Amino acid sequence: MMKTTLAIVLAALLTPALVGISHAAGNVKAGKTKAAICVGCHGLGGNSTNPLYPKLAGQNATYLVTQLRAFKNGKRKNPMMAGFATQLKLGDMKDIAAYYANQKPTISGARNTKILSVGQKLYRGGNAKTGVSACMSCHGPSGKGIPPLFPRVSGQFAAYTESQMLAFRSGSRKDPKDIMSRIAKRMSRSEIKAVSEFIAGLDTAK
Ligand code: HEC
Ligand code: HEC
Repeated sequence: MMKTTLAIVLAALLTPALVGISHAAGNVKAGKTKAAICVGCHGLGGNSTNPLYPKLAGQNATYLVTQLRAFKNGKRKNPMMAGFATQLKLGDMKDIAAYYANQKPTISGARNTKILSVGQKLYRGGNAKTGVSACMSCHGPSGKGIPPLFPRVSGQFAAYTESQMLAFRSGSRKDPKDIMSRIAKRMSRSEIKAVSEFIAGLDTAK
């Protein structure tokens, strides 16, 4: 009798924890194996070295899963990623996301130093005249984001950040709550360029 009660209590205590590891949070080791086909573009450990492909290392897992689902169901349009995402089940996405979230990101570094101060001002203070909110308020002072709501942006290639801001602005990329579209629509092309350059040099370790 005692034994059965104990077993039931133990099962009740352990089950959610085990489910948490294998489903809710994703499995880092399994994710590494499943991410082997992603290396060609997103680099080893998600640290892409080609500005055509975004870095995924250190990105928050919930955001990664949301994006993979959006590529799969067509809400985020990219023919290349649609092909890969379609082959993934939700469990695969969670494992891969857990793996990338667990990797240490490298920093791209800013190149165009002339526009850095403009970018820094926008990132930290926004633009009161045009109603652009400070990026920092959601993406954090060092750009590491606020999981699970706001993605990491720091150290990303300027070209990728710029392309996404332009996509939010034109409406070709839609975010679920329309936050980024509203912000990007108020920004000029040169402001977008400047803030993207600043973000490329942001180091979350500092
Ligand atoms: C042939 C190249 C290629 C391969 C292979 C590839 N990707 Fe991508 N991936 C891209 C491109 C290009 C983008 C940017 C899409 C855009 O501009 O919206 C992207 C974007 C992403 C994003 C969104 C990142 C962000 O910051 O919003 C995620 C997540 C992602 N890929 C995951 C994966 C995973 C997981 C795999 C492997 C199963 C994979 N990719 C394989 C090219 C690739
Ligand atoms: C009120 C909160 C908020 C503010 C302020 C904000 N963002 Fe975002 N940002 C978000 C959210 C939420 C997402 C995720 C959108 C999605 O799920 O597609 C996002 C996504 C992004 C992405 C896409 C990241 C990727 O990997 O594809 C970029 C780039 C970005 N933001 C840049 C900026 C910049 C630059 C600013 C300042 C000019 C800014 N954000 C201000 C909430 C915010």
